[in-house]
Amino acid sequence: MTESRSKARLVILISGRGSNMRSIVEAANQGQLDVDIAAVISNRPDAAGLEYAQQAGIDAQVIDHKLYDSRESFDAAMAEVIDSYQPDFVILAGFMRILTADFVEHFAGRLINIHPSLLPKFKGLHTHQRAIEAGETEHGASVHFVTAELDDGPVILQAKVPVLADDDADTLAARVLEQEHLLYPAAIQKLISQQTE
Ligand code: GRF
Repeated sequence: MTESRSKARLVILISGRGSNMRSIVEAANQGQLDVDIAAVISNRPDAAGLEYAQQAGIDAQVIDHKLYDSRESFDAAMAEVIDSYQPDFVILAGFMRILTADFVEHFAGRLINIHPSLLPKFKGLHTHQRAIEAGETEHGASVHFVTAELDDGPVILQAKVPVLADDDADTLAARVLEQEHLLYPAAIQKLISQQTE
């Protein structure tokens, strides 16, 4: 965090529902998380989370990936907008685009993601179904630094839930999501505390 600022500044990237973004906004509003949320950016114009962000008085922007002819040009446009907010951390909250190595490098050490598994287990998609099929008795979510390798960066904090005998992917996802909403604000607060130590 730069010394002239009292609070860490976040830019949050979403693609859809935005419930994790919402949990971060609520934690900030309730004084549990010492951040200013400078902007919420979605790559999809129809992301439900955009409306919530607007109503919460946050600068909400769409950068539609379909309007760019390459991943590189989309990422470059996004980096430029994000940079204009000078964030301390860029928070991926259900942001469903693979990022280029250049983008990841540009935000190295400031780019954070939440992934619905106990990393390093179950990188990639369909984590809940895969955890059930693998016969796991425990599952959960991880907040981690983003590196060029998918779902691979250093873990900041994890939350565990039991896998129950009658779980399907939906019931397990719901149990994990409940924990994600506590985990993401806690992980960001942990990062901020480390920075100001
Ligand atoms: C969450 O399960 C998150 O872990 C994953 O995508 C989902 C996003 O949900 N990366 P939401 O948009 O935050 O509600």
